[in-house]
Amino acid sequence: MDLTPLKTELLPWFAANKRPLPWREDKEPYHVWLSEIMLQQTRVEAVIGYYRRFLDALPTVRALADAPDDELMKLWEGLGYYSRARNLKKAARLIMDEYGGRFPETLASISALPGIGPYTAGAIASICFGLPCPAVDGNVMRVYARFIEYPAPIDTQDAKKQITEALTPLYENADCGALTQSLMELGACVCIPNGAPKCGLCPVKDSCAARRNESWDVYPIRTPKRGR
Ligand code: ADE
Ligand code: SF4
Repeated sequence: MDLTPLKTELLPWFAANKRPLPWREDKEPYHVWLSEIMLQQTRVEAVIGYYRRFLDALPTVRALADAPDDELMKLWEGLGYYSRARNLKKAARLIMDEYGGRFPETLASISALPGIGPYTAGAIASICFGLPCPAVDGNVMRVYARFIEYPAPIDTQDAKKQITEALTPLYENADCGALTQSLMELGACVCIPNGAPKCGLCPVKDSCAARRNESWDVYPIRTPKRGR
């Protein structure tokens, strides 16, 4: 299966159709990191206000590292999953202490920060540093699973690893940050999770297996729940 349309068709579409989100205004790692952590369990529309307020109060990694816990918790109030905020501060202190305040620039060192899993590390590495690292979240897995009619359940570590490896060659000689965000954006806005995908608007519709075979409702496959 040829994946190149996921780059050649998707990138121009993204350039023309991306939502103007505040964390897309620059590639400052602190900004991208904060947005990705907030977006882990919270919808985009809900995150925007929190994101702006947080950066107004704590505009730098240093400010975050030095923030009193009660101020931090106040800024996070309503977002839930407070371990995310505690890990942000922990990582900020580590960036100050171990990296002299400079955000680490390799996938391995980014991944080693508290609260940063493979998806977030890939997002920061590709968006901020142009590294060829896919960021595979639910949106991206759904797009990929439909595009090639991925035959196995996607909710396994094995599938995630396989999909990451399959997407990596696309990042050669590409705008890595745009590629990561274009895959997310397609999953969020066109190849949507609930209900029918908007295939008529999709930039890769001519090469998508699920579109060709009218099988979008079969993919992505999930592991059947046991018992009941
Ligand atoms: N969901 C996760 N990361 C995102 C991002 N950078 N932009 C929009 N939605 C997202
Ligand atoms: Fe998803 Fe339809 Fe686009 Fe295929 S053609 S990637 S199913 S929106």
